[in-house]
Amino acid sequence: MDISLVTENTTQTQKIAAEFAKKISLPAIFALKGNLGAGKTQFVKGLGEGLGIDKRSICSASFIVIAEYGDSPALIHIDAYRLDNPQELIDIGWDDLLERKDVIIAVEWADKVKSLLPTDRIDVEIAIVDENKRRINITSHTRNTEIAYI
Ligand SMILES: Nc1ncnc2c1ncn2[C@@H]1O[C@H](COP(=O)(O)OP(=O)(O)O)[C@@H](O)[C@H]1O
Ligand SMILES: [Mg+2]
Repeated sequence: MDISLVTENTTQTQKIAAEFAKKISLPAIFALKGNLGAGKTQFVKGLGEGLGIDKRSICSASFIVIAEYGDSPALIHIDAYRLDNPQELIDIGWDDLLERKDVIIAVEWADKVKSLLPTDRIDVEIAIVDENKRRINITSHTRNTEIAYI
């Protein structure tokens, strides 16, 4: 499945993510790509919102690398920006995360840890069109059929 759309503000970006979070079979992994300020974290806020998590609690994870929000389902938010190599993600427990069932895992700067990402995932690429416009390309490589109807 391939979706390409344009959003005009953060609310729209979050809403798309929230729809995914509500409908998708868990566990699910979102691999986010896009330049600084593209809207990756905004998208993750929307994922949280869709899971019933207060989106105001979700913020950039680039310094902390990993954050967990909520419970059943939980949102695991990873930002690989500051990682020097994929091994660092393994060191903070990546393999255990992949064992978890009731989670959405969202990885910003996914390209930095590409070798560790399962093929069963959803790629989200966000490009800046202008100040408030973003083109979002979503490619699903998952068993999830629900998202075909979003
Ligand atoms: N359509 C849009 N979708 C998402 N963010 C937008 C949009 N328009 C403007 N923005 C702004 O772009 C910035 C995106 O920041 P952020 O999500 O932290 O980016 P990233 O995590 O990709 O570095 C925010 O300041 C947000 O307000
Ligand atoms: Mg970010």
